Amino acid sequence: MRPTLKPENPCFSSGPTSKRPGWSVELLNTASLGRSHRSPYGVERIRHLITLMRDVLDIPQDYHVAMMPGSCTHAMEAALWSLLGPKPVDFLSFDVFGKLWVHDGVQELKLKNTRVFEATPGELSDLSAVDPSHDVVLTWNSTTTGVCIPNGDWIASSRTGLVICDATSALFAMPFPWEKMDAVAFSWQKGLGGEAGHGMLVLSPRAVERLESYTPPWPIPRLFLLAQEGKFIKDIFEGMTINTPSLLCVEDCIDALLWCKSIGGLPALVARSNANLKAVETWVAVTPWIDFLAHDPALRSSTALCLSFKDDPKNWDLPKAVAALLDKEGVAYDTLGHIRSAPSLRLWGGPTVETASLKALFPWIEWAYKTLK
Ligand SMILES: Cc1ncc(COP(=O)(O)O)c(C=O)c1O
Repeated sequence: MRPTLKPENPCFSSGPTSKRPGWSVELLNTASLGRSHRSPYGVERIRHLITLMRDVLDIPQDYHVAMMPGSCTHAMEAALWSLLGPKPVDFLSFDVFGKLWVHDGVQELKLKNTRVFEATPGELSDLSAVDPSHDVVLTWNSTTTGVCIPNGDWIASSRTGLVICDATSALFAMPFPWEKMDAVAFSWQKGLGGEAGHGMLVLSPRAVERLESYTPPWPIPRLFLLAQEGKFIKDIFEGMTINTPSLLCVEDCIDALLWCKSIGGLPALVARSNANLKAVETWVAVTPWIDFLAHDPALRSSTALCLSFKDDPKNWDLPKAVAALLDKEGVAYDTLGHIRSAPSLRLWGGPTVETASLKALFPWIEWAYKTLK
């Protein structure tokens, strides 16, 4: 039977993700538009964003926080280009994005002393293999397989290498061990439901020490430049962005962060995302033809809910047809898994998604599956 109740919000994309509940463009502060980002007011708004970001994510006070152009990819590459080189590097590569950072290190920077710990989609790299005297590059949460690193206990507090982490699809949805991190890159367009094109880079004091004690042998594009003549460029981390940002996107991000605070901050955000994971787990448990790509519940992401059809897990035809039918019915947009991952349907379960909308979607997925089989 074709269901009658539709999800109130059909936006289940994994990025840009759904806007926060109650979002409206009318609610954004537009006083900075048409003005310079270097004007006192422009800088004040960017600093306000950085302060809110620190507050909501509970970033340690001695870490430096910058707004970056080019979203997570740019923030991550600025860190790789500026920090890597003096030590061997261990890459944890268990998803599509992890592979991109390996490419940067091995093909572009041509690092010689590297180890790559891979995993098949749905599995996690061997964390115990990481050497604390090496730098390590990793993605905390695989947006493309739904596998997530469960905690930071495996990272030595006494490490001498730096930990460089792409935390894009993890932050705002799950606890995160900042004290085990040295450089963290993320976008606004995932957990926050913010606009694309902008992101953040967070550096620990140890990362700053590296910037001031080591100069990479390769050219560094201006947009990646975090240090000059052996000095950390602190201005970038105090609201003086490298180049011109969109102040409209800044205001949208401030709006999302104020919403985070209004609902109770990080614990409330994590609870909302966990409720989404639980709802899908409960449904999957009673639905014999579907399963998580991430088999181990302890490694399951609460944001990237990647599901595979058990009848034919190596074939894209069914996920493609189901996603297209859900889209056509207007009940769920953008639910096809990442094309370079395993065949899957993917629902975003971050905190901006209402559990009620997810629950209303399950009968539609059942209907689509039975209609297409
Ligand atoms: C884990 C991860 N890293 C990096 C990116 C790239 O993000 P952006 O397009 O914001 O640079 C994504 C986007 O989906 C992602 O999921």
